[in-house]
Amino acid sequence: MSKETIHLKTDSDGIDWEQVTEVLQKSGLSDAPAEVHKKAFTNSGLVAFLLDNDRVIGVARALTDHVSQGAIYNVALRDEYQGRGFGRKLIDSLLERMQGQNVILYTHPQTVLMYEKFGFRRAKSAMEFFPIEGEHKAWLESEGFFLPEGFRFADEYKREDMKGPRWKRNE
Ligand SMILES: CC(C)(COP(=O)(O)OP(=O)(O)OC[C@H]1O[C@@H](n2cnc3c(N)ncnc32)[C@H](O)[C@@H]1OP(=O)(O)O)[C@@H](O)C(=O)NCCC(=O)NCCS
Repeated sequence: MSKETIHLKTDSDGIDWEQVTEVLQKSGLSDAPAEVHKKAFTNSGLVAFLLDNDRVIGVARALTDHVSQGAIYNVALRDEYQGRGFGRKLIDSLLERMQGQNVILYTHPQTVLMYEKFGFRRAKSAMEFFPIEGEHKAWLESEGFFLPEGFRFADEYKREDMKGPRWKRNE
């Protein structure tokens, strides 16, 4: 595998969705079947694929309104290509196309430090609604994706504006 054979593709034309699925599965990001990924990537505003010759070796996508808001998902590389700057290439490719937009993402705790290198900050007031239960949710809980239910940061306990609407607080 030489760096010269690896190229970035920013559209989904001719993409082998089985290979995309394999990358996401092997990197532990998703167990969904190929048709789900095909739908998710083709319905996303932005995609980035890295191919080594014809083989998909890295994937990433983002939802964007192309004006003010964007969200990054599914950033993954095959094992043997990790740690060589290709993740940066995928993420930069999405960020370059969302310049000037607020970009959000959620990630595994082990990659928080990585996204900080791209200028991301952890968001204190971001909220997630996950309509999932069972094994997947338990896994997310155990890996440390969520703050405990009803969690407040220490400085928030004294904030009156977080204790319900103004008209009810003054009752
Ligand atoms: C996360 C992933 C996409 C990173 O891609 P990569 O090619 O290995 O990373 P790069 O070599 O491009 O590294 C880019 C920078 O991030 C840093 N970095 C990479 N992984 C990191 C980690 N886990 N923690 C902290 N920093 C990390 C690198 O040191 C590098 O920093 P530098 O430019 O200052 O040297 C890749 O390792 C991967 O696919 N992992 C499995 C799936 C995954 O965890 N996806 C993201 C979470 S949802």
